[in-house]
Amino acid sequence: MKRIFSGVQPTGVITLGNYIGAFRQFVTMQNDYDCIFSIVDEHAITVPQDSDELSKNIRTLAATYLATGIDPDKAILFIQSEVPAHAQAGWMLTCTSYIGELERMTQFKDKAKGRDAVSAGLLTYPPLMAADILLYNTDIVPVGEDQKQHLEITRDLAERFNNRYGETFKIPEIQLPKNGARIKSLQDPLKKMSKSDDNKKATIRILDSAKDIEKKVKSAVTDSEGIVRFDLENKPGVSNLLTIEASLTDISIDNLVAKYEGLGYGAFKAGVAESIIKHLTPIQERFAELIHSSELDHILDDGAEKANAIASETVSKMEIAMGLGRKRR
Ligand code: TYM
Repeated sequence: MKRIFSGVQPTGVITLGNYIGAFRQFVTMQNDYDCIFSIVDEHAITVPQDSDELSKNIRTLAATYLATGIDPDKAILFIQSEVPAHAQAGWMLTCTSYIGELERMTQFKDKAKGRDAVSAGLLTYPPLMAADILLYNTDIVPVGEDQKQHLEITRDLAERFNNRYGETFKIPEIQLPKNGARIKSLQDPLKKMSKSDDNKKATIRILDSAKDIEKKVKSAVTDSEGIVRFDLENKPGVSNLLTIEASLTDISIDNLVAKYEGLGYGAFKAGVAESIIKHLTPIQERFAELIHSSELDHILDDGAEKANAIASETVSKMEIAMGLGRKRR
């Protein structure tokens, strides 16, 4: 079986963008692939975090993985900081990276903009992400479109390491979802929907109440044409809502356009909100059962043990390849 690896940062309740771009893919792929998923808390600390908030978010994200349908019998789920190999391999790959290529990453430029003090970790975020992926001999990485550049640098680092120190890593492929690789903000449909958006109305979070979801969709920015049709360039707001409903219901965009023919934006938005609520309600119910359960801890303990076994072997291979310590080639 081919292996997939993906990670999500524990930086608050995940958005509908994370869910459609990443989690939906994870759940369908777990039947056909050997799957490993991580709560990447070491990536979260590349920007300042409140420690109580971070540990709460780690648990929330773990319960979210399971509530959205990740099955611990089919997939390994673990917390990145509980597997020391990530920091170890991250360092070796940091030493394989060039400052110039790291400074050119758009995520670094975006996140560093306007900050007085930028952590060195924000710059070396990509080699840590490359370590996550490469430690597990990953074939495929399912992510949203915003991670494309990170996957490209992962491939470059793997090739550079292989050329310099001998064949060590498999070169992974990216997989984007067919629909919804970039879900947009409800308030500015030219921007991606983001966990860190200051405007609360811009983002639907998967634990939002039905009432909040209705309100947010109702106030979503659209246009003045009043006709529901898919046109990314001229109607980004309406197209974003159509993409969201299509991804959650598996109804094609054409069929949705037919469903809303002759109806105004009021009815359209009510329909979209209803589909979102219908989809999220069972996830929210499972989440409530899991969040305080000891089952969650058992799954994470088991996941860390399994991930450690695979990742520590790769770290040894990397150390031998680089000539570190007293290990022999
Ligand atoms: P993160 O935590 O920002 O996002 C998690 C996943 O959600 C996807 N995503 C979106 N997809 C569609 N529309 C959106 N608006 C949207 N917003 C987010 C992201 O593409 C991602 O798949 N660097 C990664 C975490 C990471 C990782 C890894 C991923 C660390 N190590 C190894 C894969 C493999 C990140 O910050 O994702």
